[in-house]
Amino acid sequence: MQYTKIGNLNKEMGKEVELRGWVHRVRSSNAIMFVVIRDVTGIIQCVIAKETMPEEKWNECSKITIESSLIIKGTIQKEEKAPMGIELKVNEFEIIGTSENFPISKDFSPEFLADVRHLWLRSRKMTSILKIRSTVLGAVHDFFRNKDFYECQSPSIMSSQCEGGSTLFKVDYYGKDLFLTQTWQLHAEAAIFALEKIYCIAPSFRAEKSRTSRHLSEYWHAEMESVWCDFEQLQEYAEKLIKHILKAVLEKNKYDLEVLKRDISVLETSLKKPFIKMTYDEALKILNDKYNLKIDWGKDLRTIEEDKLTSDFDTPIIVTKYPKIVKAFYMKEDPKNPDVVLGFDVLAPENYGELIGASQREEDQKKIEKRLIEQGEDLKNYEFYLDTRRYGSVPHSGFGMGVERVISWICKLDTIRDAIAFPRTMTRYTP
Ligand code: 4AD
Ligand code: MG
Repeated sequence: MQYTKIGNLNKEMGKEVELRGWVHRVRSSNAIMFVVIRDVTGIIQCVIAKETMPEEKWNECSKITIESSLIIKGTIQKEEKAPMGIELKVNEFEIIGTSENFPISKDFSPEFLADVRHLWLRSRKMTSILKIRSTVLGAVHDFFRNKDFYECQSPSIMSSQCEGGSTLFKVDYYGKDLFLTQTWQLHAEAAIFALEKIYCIAPSFRAEKSRTSRHLSEYWHAEMESVWCDFEQLQEYAEKLIKHILKAVLEKNKYDLEVLKRDISVLETSLKKPFIKMTYDEALKILNDKYNLKIDWGKDLRTIEEDKLTSDFDTPIIVTKYPKIVKAFYMKEDPKNPDVVLGFDVLAPENYGELIGASQREEDQKKIEKRLIEQGEDLKNYEFYLDTRRYGSVPHSGFGMGVERVISWICKLDTIRDAIAFPRTMTRYTP
C-alpha cells in the first residue's frame, strides 16, 4: 500500500505519484476533465486529458461523480491557476467505489446538514474540526501522563447526582430509576486514595432543556483529581492544560486552522500571556462599573454576564471564590470567608463561556452532609462518597473541562454541535 497523501504532494514536484481519495469537485469539457480529489490532508486538482487516455478509459470518466472513490496515478506539476498552486497530470485512474447523486449539493441549511451529518463529516470544515479534536484529546492525555497522572474510569450509570438534579437523565435500570453520569468526580475522589493523581476523558450527560450554542446533552469531559493539590496549584494545572492544548493545535493543525479561516493570533496570545485572574467580587465590580450590570451578590454569573466580562480580555479568565450558595456541595469553604468557596471557573475569550469548572474539595464531612441535606439529598446515596472523608482524608482538588467548549473556541465555531462528530441535543439524536 504505497501512496502519497495530498498534504505531502508539494515535496513530490515533477515525480510520478499515486493518490487515493474521493471526488470533491468535478468539471469537464469535451477534451479535458478537472477532478478535485480530497483526502484527510487536503485537496488537489487532477487533470485528465482525452488525448492521453485510451478511448474506453476516457469514456469511464462520466462515472467520476462527486464522492466517488478513486486511485489515481500521475505527475505533480506547478499550476498557478489551480486552487493549491499545484496539480496532478493524470496518467492512470481506477474508480474504486462509484457514488450516487450526493445529497449535499444545494441545501446547506443547518437542519439539513444535521440530518445528513454522516455525509457532512466529509466536508473540509468538519474534517478539519475533527482533526483538531483529535489533537485536543491527545494533548489532554499527554499533559496528564507526563505529570504522572494515572488514567482511571468511573461508571456511566449512577445512583446519585453531583451537579444538580435538574439536568439528570433517568435510566430504567432493571426497574430502578438511575441516572447517566454528569461527572466522574465522585468516584474519582474515592480512587485518588489509591492512585493519588488521576484523570479521565469520558462522556458526561446533561439533560439541558434549552437549545444553546454551548450545551450538548452528551459531551466529552476531561477531568482530573489530585491529592495534596491546593487551590493555587489547581489554577496552575488548569492554565497549563489549556496552554498545552493550544500549543499542540497550533503546532499540528496549522492547515486545519487555515481551512477554518481561524485568526490564530488570539490563540497565540492566550498561549503566551498569563491568564487573567479575578475573584467573583471583582467580577461583579467590573460588570457594575463598566457595563452597568447590577448583579446581587450571591447570584451566579449568567451567559450574558460572562460574555461581557470576557470581552475586555484577550486570554481566558479565571474567576475565583464564588458564593457558596451557587456552587456544588463538594467545594471547600474558604477558611477566610465561609460565604465563598475555593472554586473557580475558567471563562474563554470571544464569548465561548465556561471551559473549566474547578475546586478544592471540602474535607469536613459534617459540612458536606449539611450542604447535601440543604439541597434535599438523601445521605444514604452518598455513603460511599462520605467514606472518602472518613478514612484518611487529605486535602485534594480537581476540575472538569468541557472538551467541546475548548474545541468550539479554538475553531471559533458558531455552535458547539460542530465540535463533535455526532451531536446529541434536546432535539437531535440521529444519526
Ligand atoms: O462545571 P461543571 O458542571 O463541573 C463538574 O461537573 C465538576 N464535577 C467537574 C470536576 O470538578 N471534576 O462541568 C465542567 C465543564 C464546564 O466547565 C463546561 O466546560 C462543561 O463541563 N460542560 C458542558 N459542555 C457541553 N455541554 C454541556 N451541557 C456542559 N455542561 C458542562
Ligand atoms: Mg460549572
